[in-house]
Amino acid sequence: MGACAMGFGKAVPGLVVHNEDLEKLVQTDDEWIVTRTGISSRHVSVNETMVDLAAAAAAEALGMDVPSVPGANIDSAGVCPEPVDPASIDLVVLTTITPDVLVPSNAAALKRMLGLDSAVAFDVNAACTGFVYGVSVAESMMAASHTAGGGARNQYNRALVVSSERLTRLTDWQDRNTCVLFGDGAGAMVLEWRDGEQGVMSSYLKNDDDDANSLTCRQSYSSPLPFDENGVVCDEEAKAAHDARSDDPKVVDYSYIASLGLSCDPAAGRADDLFDIDDRASRGGPEQVIYMNGQKVFKFAAKAMENAVRQACERAGVAVQDVKAIVPHQANLRIIEFAAKRLDLPLDAFQVSIGHTGNTSSSCLPMALVDAISSGKVSHGDIVVLVAFGGGLTSGAAVMRL
Ligand code: UT7
Repeated sequence: MGACAMGFGKAVPGLVVHNEDLEKLVQTDDEWIVTRTGISSRHVSVNETMVDLAAAAAAEALGMDVPSVPGANIDSAGVCPEPVDPASIDLVVLTTITPDVLVPSNAAALKRMLGLDSAVAFDVNAACTGFVYGVSVAESMMAASHTAGGGARNQYNRALVVSSERLTRLTDWQDRNTCVLFGDGAGAMVLEWRDGEQGVMSSYLKNDDDDANSLTCRQSYSSPLPFDENGVVCDEEAKAAHDARSDDPKVVDYSYIASLGLSCDPAAGRADDLFDIDDRASRGGPEQVIYMNGQKVFKFAAKAMENAVRQACERAGVAVQDVKAIVPHQANLRIIEFAAKRLDLPLDAFQVSIGHTGNTSSSCLPMALVDAISSGKVSHGDIVVLVAFGGGLTSGAAVMRL
């Protein structure tokens, strides 16, 4: 019994940005980027939302027509031997660190866009390890609903796990240490619970403390807050000015609150204190962008990938050498090479897709999986390991038979 893969999909925005293009933005060059990262180009979304990309990848995995979105330019591909009835999907797990909206969940928007009427839907954020976490969450919920006591829970027979990112929205385009690395895209996989078959054979999830705050991104949303420690603060003069301006009483305009100067979110400030996040905004830098100490993450990554692969293989009762292919997080070709060395495997045992995508965070894995299947590197019945690491510091792996 197990959660078996039925379909796979990926989608990227049509705009391709080459290394040479970035030379116009920061002091860098194609040779440095290719040698140090393995990246030649990446896709950047301008008019495509994160959910648009997710919907295109998911539609490919379900064997449906890709929804047409006015103004959007999306290239998609997929492998789906038999179209899946959208009404049969009962669970949607969407992983992202770049949600289009905070409420409702982006999975809810995706479910509506594709007409997945029966599905329970929610978002997961485990940074770049999101897809492994998403697969593990979906598989666990499916498994729990099929245990002896499963009747007391929702039944999950078919799940859609989608990872979608517009990482370029969180990119500081003046920081050459990070802006050459990231890209946008989405990937998806449909799982079905089947008796007598085992798709997902094991999973291993881990969170190491990021003591050095080597991978962080502040949140910058905050509505103006008309409170201080003593309660409501109301500036009658500012409120009267606002009321005089507001012609349509149905339109709620809180701009007067901003005039109180209380627009900072103290709770967000406390979170920053908790993690001791470098306050780049107060130094005049962009606020909601990814800050990364590349070398610290690099050191963590190679070890974390080796550990996660070994642990997941042991749990699955599979020797690392017997795995057909490893589908790793596509953060840096050199990290994949290090992991290969540590696992005593040839580089050829790994799917490498980073060259034309860059690092697309959680969507790297399902996108690379489509590449591995499309190129014939892996096929039905093969055992693969999905492995990733990311902010948190999260890491994880899942062993599955395709
Ligand atoms: O999914 C999120 C997880 N993130 C990652 O996995 C990223 C992990 N880290 C990395 O991939 C690498 O550390 C980077 C690609 C980010 C950087 O490569 P590196 O070999 O660690 O370079 P470095 O940070 O040690 O920098 C070496 C030099 C520096 O110049 P100096 O101080 O030696 O003069 C940098 O300023 O390279 C310089 N540099 C660049 N030069 C040209 C940094 N970025 C660039 C650039 N173009 N884009």
